Amino acid sequence: MEKMICTSKTSAEILLQAVNGEGLGREEIIRLLTLTDPLDIDELFKAADQVRQDYVGDEIFLRGIIEFSSYCRNNCLYCGLRRDNLEIERYRIPDDEILELARAIEARGCTTVVLQSGEDPFYTRKRLYGIISRITDETSLAVTLSLGERTYEDLHAFKAAGADRYLLRHETASRSLFASLCPGRSLDTRIECLHHLRELGYEVGSGCMVGLPGQTVEDLADDVMLIRKLNIDMVGIGPFIPHDQTPLKAHPAGDVDMVLKMVALVRLVTRDANIPSTTALGVLDKETRKRAFHAGANVFMPVFTPHSYAKDYEIYPGKGLVSSDARKTLDSYLEFFRSMGRPIGKGKGFRPGFRARTSLCNYER
Ligand code: 5AD
Ligand code: SF4
Repeated sequence: MEKMICTSKTSAEILLQAVNGEGLGREEIIRLLTLTDPLDIDELFKAADQVRQDYVGDEIFLRGIIEFSSYCRNNCLYCGLRRDNLEIERYRIPDDEILELARAIEARGCTTVVLQSGEDPFYTRKRLYGIISRITDETSLAVTLSLGERTYEDLHAFKAAGADRYLLRHETASRSLFASLCPGRSLDTRIECLHHLRELGYEVGSGCMVGLPGQTVEDLADDVMLIRKLNIDMVGIGPFIPHDQTPLKAHPAGDVDMVLKMVALVRLVTRDANIPSTTALGVLDKETRKRAFHAGANVFMPVFTPHSYAKDYEIYPGKGLVSSDARKTLDSYLEFFRSMGRPIGKGKGFRPGFRARTSLCNYER
């Protein structure tokens, strides 16, 4: 019998290709995501770390989060804040207190505030315009919004108020999985919203979960491909964590090692995107959250929501607890970054290759 000649590349060759910026095809992404030998996986992380250093340098950027409302009109099957969860207390942080928290974030050396909430219609265009304007008038912080899907007109107004960035995860690049997990929503409208953000001059953040029910490694490769195609500026990737008060309570949590591989792949394909090591990663495994900084991550997002509120912001179990020792966590990460020789970024930490439109006309208050 004739011997089959295997022309497929070794993982080392694929990695070299990636580091050299020659791009990765879907099959190659799958190859790297399915590496099992710890030595090979280590090479993947090293390659991502190299690209991180070459393209965004050693600085770590801090983005302080305020989770200002836990109300949500959506019913995502995976999320503890889904509207059908009647077992949690809902809260809204008064506007003045949001401002105070923003000042505390600035005082603590963060250069960005992230305003995050469920999809809460109480926060009208006008109300949010007011909150964002006050923050941009009264502090020097860059403003990132994470408010779910909003209309083009809303997003336009928020940009005019001075918002710089917007986080809206695509959650999964599988159309069918998205449709089954987010009732009444579609991947296409999510992507359209991301296009609107781009058009309006925002830095655009997206990302996905790892370990969703029925999600395959091919789906994860498609997540990486979608992130590259949309030229996403900030990419949050976290493990799915089952929440007891949701329909997915019996589904196992995502694999943290796969999350790390995804972080590395996203670094390899985006080059200079800003990539946080996510809170969810830390909830499942504190060490893995740190390891992400050796695998391509360059952003840390400390929670500044006071514990009295944040205990009820349980998107997934353990999330609310994060705020109870948030100060200690931040201190320990600052120490960790020092020990790694990674300085804290002094600037606002925009994506190096990002060119935003600087002004927006025609917005009437
Ligand atoms: N486990 C992990 N992450 C979750 N998110 C929502 N629910 C969960 C969960 N159970 C993530 C989603 C959402 C972000 C705010 O939190 O990706 O976009
Ligand atoms: Fe609401 Fe976001 Fe949770 Fe979905 S993931 S239910 S939109 S808070």
